[in-house]
Amino acid sequence: MSAPLVLGVLGSGKGSNFGAIVEAIAASTLDARIGIVISDVADAGILELARARGCPALYLPPGRFKSKLEPERELEIVNVLRAHQVDLVVLAGFMRLLKEPLVTAFAGRIINIHPSLLPKFPGLAAWRQALEAGERETGCTVHRVDLGMDTGPILAQARVPIHPDDTAETLHARIQAAEHGLYPEVIRRLAADRPS
Ligand code: GRF
Repeated sequence: MSAPLVLGVLGSGKGSNFGAIVEAIAASTLDARIGIVISDVADAGILELARARGCPALYLPPGRFKSKLEPERELEIVNVLRAHQVDLVVLAGFMRLLKEPLVTAFAGRIINIHPSLLPKFPGLAAWRQALEAGERETGCTVHRVDLGMDTGPILAQARVPIHPDDTAETLHARIQAAEHGLYPEVIRRLAADRPS
């Protein structure tokens, strides 16, 4: 039997996807362990949730850019992830683009969840984009992370209907419910597919 997959989770927000992953681990439906949770937002819910669940949690200041990290800050993250022996980097609502050196250091071992059926609606507030485009369905996508914005190879998708009376809030909530099933499921698959 192989050791549990060690996850390094990066998030900027409330951390509901992280919560779903932790629940799956606690329920023994996912053979993984949280190595470290890192946030670029000092008071992010994800850090609070991690600490409440007894997971190591760290705030790392992002530096002077708005939509990415300073390379020095990324190197710091790489070092922290390595120090915690992270196998897989899981982006769970991390609101900055990853660049060098992180993407190369963990090449092929970084995944993200995005609230649309990529390649449709990359970028911010994808549920609102789908609603405003008059779509009748949307969903969520788990993909590997490359240097682009929401562009890496797709691993899995879940579909979600859009109802005529949906608001941005009701639609986002329905997508998030789908995310909470899909993300642990994909990580489970990646853990199972590891070479032994
Ligand atoms: C999710 O909807 C995800 O698709 C997007 O950011 C959101 C994070 O939510 N990338 P949470 O912090 O996991 O609740």
